[in-house]
Amino acid sequence: MNLDLLEKLTQTFGPSGYEDAIRDIIREEVAPLVHEVRVDPLGSLVAYRKGTGGGQKIALAAHMDEIGVMATYVEEQGYVRFTSIGGVRPLNCVGNRVRFANGVVGVVSVERRDDANSLPALQHLYIDVGATTREDCPVAVGDPAQFIGPLLRQGNRLVSKTMDDRVGCYVLIEVLRQLKDTPHDIYAIFSTQEEITLAGARTSAFRVDPDMAISIDVTGTGDTPKAHPMAVELGKGPAIKVKDGGMIAHPLVRDKLVAAAKEAGLPYQMEILLGGSTDAAAMQLVRAGVPSGCVSIPCRFIHSPSEMVDAADVEYAITLLVTALRV
Ligand code: CO
Ligand code: ZN
Repeated sequence: MNLDLLEKLTQTFGPSGYEDAIRDIIREEVAPLVHEVRVDPLGSLVAYRKGTGGGQKIALAAHMDEIGVMATYVEEQGYVRFTSIGGVRPLNCVGNRVRFANGVVGVVSVERRDDANSLPALQHLYIDVGATTREDCPVAVGDPAQFIGPLLRQGNRLVSKTMDDRVGCYVLIEVLRQLKDTPHDIYAIFSTQEEITLAGARTSAFRVDPDMAISIDVTGTGDTPKAHPMAVELGKGPAIKVKDGGMIAHPLVRDKLVAAAKEAGLPYQMEILLGGSTDAAAMQLVRAGVPSGCVSIPCRFIHSPSEMVDAADVEYAITLLVTALRV
C-alpha cells in the first residue's frame, strides 16, 4: 500500500467548495494514467480513459471534498464562531484543531453552559486562533477550515482525518493505475461538494452521460459498542451497496460487483446503510436515469478527525473494481 500517497490525499486542504489544492494533487497522479483530464465548471476533475472497444461508458466517482467548518462571526475578544460544512457533530469538535486555508490553526472549545451535561449545539462552540481582538484576528468571516488528524498506521488499521473520501480517491487512482485492458470507456470523476449537495458528481455525470455509474466511498460499520445492527465489519472486505439513505443500488451494478468479488476470490460484504448516501444517489438521477451502485470502504468514526479503515479492505476494493471493469 502506498502510504505516502494516502497521507498526501488525506491531509491536503479541501472542504466542500474549496477543492483546488486536493484537485492539483490528484491531477498530478492521474494525468499520466489516462487519455484526457478536464475540470468541469463546478470543479470536479474528470479523467477519461478510452477502452479497447465494444464496452460501455462507465463513470466512477470518488469525492475530493471534506467536511469542515466556516467562520461566521469574529467576537470582540478575537474568538471565531463558525458553522458546519457538511455533517459536523459538536461532540467531534471540542478539543480538536482546525486549519484554515492560510495555515492558521485554531482550537475548538465550548463556552461555559449552565447545563454542562447536555450535548452542546454548534452555536455554543468557538475557535481560539490566538487572537485577542477582532482586529488582530487572522480569520475573516467566510473563511473555511479543515479538521486536523494525521495519518497513523497501527497493524492493519489506518487512522486519519478525511478517509471520507480520500481513501475512495486513493482506490480510484489505483484502479486507473492497475486496470490495463478494459473494453469500457472509463470516466473517473473526482467530485466536489459531495458532503453538502452531491453537486459535483451530479453535474459531471450529466456531462459524461454514462451507461453505468459506481461511486467509491466509505460506509459505517456495526462492530462498535452499541452500534446499530449492521452486517458490515472492519477488515471483512469491501462492502457492495444494496441500499442506503438515498438510493437502492441498481441490481445490474450490484450483481456485477458481486460476480467480480466471487471471480477474484475476495472477501466482500453486503451493505445496507440506514442513513447517509453517496455520489451514486445523484448520478443515478441524471438524464433518463443511470444504473448506479457503490463500492464502500468500511470505516469507523466517520466525520471525526480519526476515521479508521482496514488496509486489507482498501486493497481488496481496488482488486474488486479492477476485476469488475475488465469485462
Ligand atoms: Co462524508
Ligand atoms: Zn463520503
